Amino acid sequence: MTTPSTADLYRDYVMPTYGRFDLALARGEGTRVWDEAGKAYLDFGAGIAVCSLGHAHPKLAKVLANQASTLIHTSNLYLTRPQGELAKLIAELVGLGGKTFFCNSGAEANEGLYKLARKFGAPTGRHQIITFTNSFHGRTLGGISATGQEKVKMDFAPLVEGFVHVPFNDLAATEAAITSKTVAILLEPVQGEGGINPATPEFLKGVRELCDKHDLLLMFDEVQCGFGRTGDWCAWKTIAPSGVEPDAVSWAKGIASGVPLGAFWAGSRPTASVPLCDLLGPGTHGTTYGGNPLVAAAGLTVLSIIQEEGLLENARELGTHLMSELVAMNLPTIRLVRGVGLMMGIELNDLAGEGLPSMIATKALMAAGLLVIPSGERTIRLLPPLNISMSEADEALAILKDILLAVPLREKIT
Ligand SMILES: Cc1ncc(COP(=O)(O)O)c(C=O)c1O
Repeated sequence: MTTPSTADLYRDYVMPTYGRFDLALARGEGTRVWDEAGKAYLDFGAGIAVCSLGHAHPKLAKVLANQASTLIHTSNLYLTRPQGELAKLIAELVGLGGKTFFCNSGAEANEGLYKLARKFGAPTGRHQIITFTNSFHGRTLGGISATGQEKVKMDFAPLVEGFVHVPFNDLAATEAAITSKTVAILLEPVQGEGGINPATPEFLKGVRELCDKHDLLLMFDEVQCGFGRTGDWCAWKTIAPSGVEPDAVSWAKGIASGVPLGAFWAGSRPTASVPLCDLLGPGTHGTTYGGNPLVAAAGLTVLSIIQEEGLLENARELGTHLMSELVAMNLPTIRLVRGVGLMMGIELNDLAGEGLPSMIATKALMAAGLLVIPSGERTIRLLPPLNISMSEADEALAILKDILLAVPLREKIT
């Protein structure tokens, strides 16, 4: 009997929920991954903005091995040192005091935000959360209800009640959507899945003022844009260095460079009873794995390495380099380049060939040895590890230039 291929195993045993590429990856090191046949790829997707330190970072691998042979899991019935230390580090990096709850993914971190908002609004009978068009907040029922994209909601009705979507960066529309039932505003400071759309500083400041005026919580989903990706610990600080302080923030993805860890933080704003960060008291929220010693040790190590290796500076410097070189290419296939730090979107014109421009380009780049992430119909995202080198950035730029020059534009129908 022949051994089934990895693709055979997926076809026969894994639910077909993803539009996957026909690429089976076997290992990684730094910014490079190798497929099962031994072909190397420069990984500028980093597992969708997850592998902050690239692949197989020796220090992270060592910490994981040590922690695995010491204590992996205890449940949240007991205290473990790594979780306490990680919460302290997060409070220091955010710089606003407060406390953190640990979970396992971005969608779950956002679920915590929805519950925090509902508990905050309960005494005044308010529960509605304003979110934005083109946002993405995860695939749970709450997550798809919060997400401002119809395609994720199809056939899953009835959705969770209480989410209202308004156009992103539109302060007037946001104010107009506030009712006596509104309790919070939730936004991604840089929309990721929506195609890399940064909020404007005026918008962030404006929503903070609206939240103050109407006694609402300002909640940021930094699952994709947080912890270094934009060149700062907090994406909102990259956009508005002063004058904007959120009440609550969610993270996942890059926080532990691929070890599944999510988290949400709340500040110490007073509420009717206790500070916001103490509002979800014993018995109100929980998860079995959340912040166990293995994942918390990973989070601590990743955030410490970002500090020690100067990766915020690297993200800023390499992000600026990539952005200016992409703009300077001035290719007919590129319509627009957007982004902050190492979170970049290249919006493409109509390309000749089968399928959407984002997929045509992603496949052609993959064949040439560069992994990028498609987003919507015509954007490809560059989300490389925060520790990429200048020569890796230049290697990726050379492949992008070759391929985006070679792919023909679709003929205009006249
Ligand atoms: C901004 C944002 N929020 C939430 C999520 C959901 O995270 P997860 O897939 O870890 O549940 C994502 C995932 O892409 C995201 O980009």
